[in-house]
Amino acid sequence: MKVLIIGGGGREHTIAWKIARSPKVHQIYCAPGNAGIAEIAECVDIGVMDFDRQAAFAREKGIDLIVVGPDDPLVAGAVDVLEEAGFKVFGPSKAASLLEGSKSFSKDLMKKYGIPTASYEVFDSPEAALSYLETAKMPIVLKVDGLALGKGVLICSTREEAVNGVKTLMVHKQFGSAGNRIVAEEFMTGREVSVLSFVDGKTIKIMTSAQDHKRAKDGDQGLNTGGMGTFSPSPFYTEEVDEFCRRNIYQATVDAMKAEGREFKGIIFFGLMLTEEGPKVLEYNARFGDPETQVVLPRMKNDIVEVFEACIDGSLDQIDLQFEDNAAVCVVLASSGYPEHYEKGYPIDGLEAFKNRNGYFAFHAGTSLDDCGNVVTSGGRVLGVTAVGADLKEARDKAYEAVRWVSFENKYMRQDIGREIVKRAGEE
Ligand code: AMP
Ligand code: GLY
Repeated sequence: MKVLIIGGGGREHTIAWKIARSPKVHQIYCAPGNAGIAEIAECVDIGVMDFDRQAAFAREKGIDLIVVGPDDPLVAGAVDVLEEAGFKVFGPSKAASLLEGSKSFSKDLMKKYGIPTASYEVFDSPEAALSYLETAKMPIVLKVDGLALGKGVLICSTREEAVNGVKTLMVHKQFGSAGNRIVAEEFMTGREVSVLSFVDGKTIKIMTSAQDHKRAKDGDQGLNTGGMGTFSPSPFYTEEVDEFCRRNIYQATVDAMKAEGREFKGIIFFGLMLTEEGPKVLEYNARFGDPETQVVLPRMKNDIVEVFEACIDGSLDQIDLQFEDNAAVCVVLASSGYPEHYEKGYPIDGLEAFKNRNGYFAFHAGTSLDDCGNVVTSGGRVLGVTAVGADLKEARDKAYEAVRWVSFENKYMRQDIGREIVKRAGEE
């Protein structure tokens, strides 16, 4: 088979690596890809939103399967366009991607179908939001309705902060038109867990759990980012939690989407908060998480292409999804200054240390090749250095060993990915 992957970040590098392990696949293409993906796939300079050129390229190469990675093309209808052009495509339709594309849609869906989530109100004007804030309980969480790279969420401790937040999102439009509508949500406390799943429209198969570290700095300080590191599995995702979610959240979401005429095929990513009242949905994403994918896929036993095909064909019930009984940790090496201002274009040294080393991965996020063919930094998140180990401690030790192999100017990372979990396990 020939597979075309749309995207060019750490998530897509991990997907490409996993696809490359499938005996069914003999050629992988990626649009646009990055320097790491280029080692296993032929990268082509076509943007993720350029669906017509993607279709033309797929036609020229005789592509058998297209996998769409990022949220932007999914929400904009990449799958519909590429399917219309005659291709087999893995990912949700535009109608189904609204699960991620609109927070108010997903909140209304959960309310209508009794899926546990924080209580909320939706506002289409700053005046209405401000008047609500006069009596609302603090802290409060404000979220832009549309996509905002995971950054359109403000947690406001005081009324004053909330008032300023509404102005930032709805008047000054920090996240553009994504903030034309906002959701104001009850503030919840608890552990966060990410759960990815495969869905074929009616059946859902849950992958192993993971946990992200979203803040830029150690101790969960600093700005929200796309994710600075992950580990899998999450020890807080107990059997009891799993059972609750299976009973109240997972299948209920798939059934709700079907009942709404938005049959979901692809990945549903459940952002969960384990509150005192039980697990609640923080958010849905309609795609693999980044950098959750980097710790989940290296632990997956199945041939991912078979699972993708089962999702497309509606035969996921036939798949026995299995994960290794081990653990993985991913530490993101970023450009200092991310998620705000950072420099790029610096050469990256030491990547060859990962070659032929079992259980160690350098998944590329923001890298490219310069004119001389050297790998250089080209984004805020540069690499997802990942290691697999027998348990979280071993995986963590190996990941923090491997980050030392790589060097580039302005290299920045958090030192505490998975630290608390490993410490806790040691004390038990
Ligand atoms: P989201 O993009 O909706 O997952 O929000 C980003 C982050 O904001 C989450 O990972 C949480 O840490 C935090 N967050 C979102 N909603 C809430 C909430 N209702 N209560 C507390 N924290 C929240
Ligand atoms: N790591 C969170 C996300 O992919 O949205």
